Amino acid sequence: MNTDEIIAKLNWFYSLELNQVDLYMAQSKKVEDIYISKVLERASYIEQQHVDNIAAQIQKKGSTPTVLGDIIAPLFGKAGGNMTAAFGVVPLLKADILLEQKAMSDYKDFILKVGHDNELFSLLWANLIDEDLHTAWFLSKVQELESK
Ligand SMILES: [Fe+2]
Ligand SMILES: [Fe+2]
Repeated sequence: MNTDEIIAKLNWFYSLELNQVDLYMAQSKKVEDIYISKVLERASYIEQQHVDNIAAQIQKKGSTPTVLGDIIAPLFGKAGGNMTAAFGVVPLLKADILLEQKAMSDYKDFILKVGHDNELFSLLWANLIDEDLHTAWFLSKVQELESK
């Protein structure tokens, strides 16, 4: 990937992560279960760290972070409606899992293509692992709720 392609990809992640900050914060305010609410709030905070670390990389490459608009809605279409608490916490968490899995597969793809940029390479790995941990918690909570 050349620098312009890397910056374009970083802007895509910047927008996705920003969307996730807002989504998880909105969900944390709607979910009644205090523990799930606190996890979503914490996840939102971690997504904000991703926003900030990606923005720093874009700036370091001489560009300005650019919001590309709503990344999530086009990915999910009507299923995006499940992302509010209106349909219950299990569909909400399942939608979040799909979103995290999309982020993970795109981070993995980016890692394979990024080339000799050790700082960016480490950062993409760190963000990927955070998404994996989010996915694992969401999944175990879904399994717990579905076994009741
Ligand atoms: Fe993230
Ligand atoms: Fe995440």
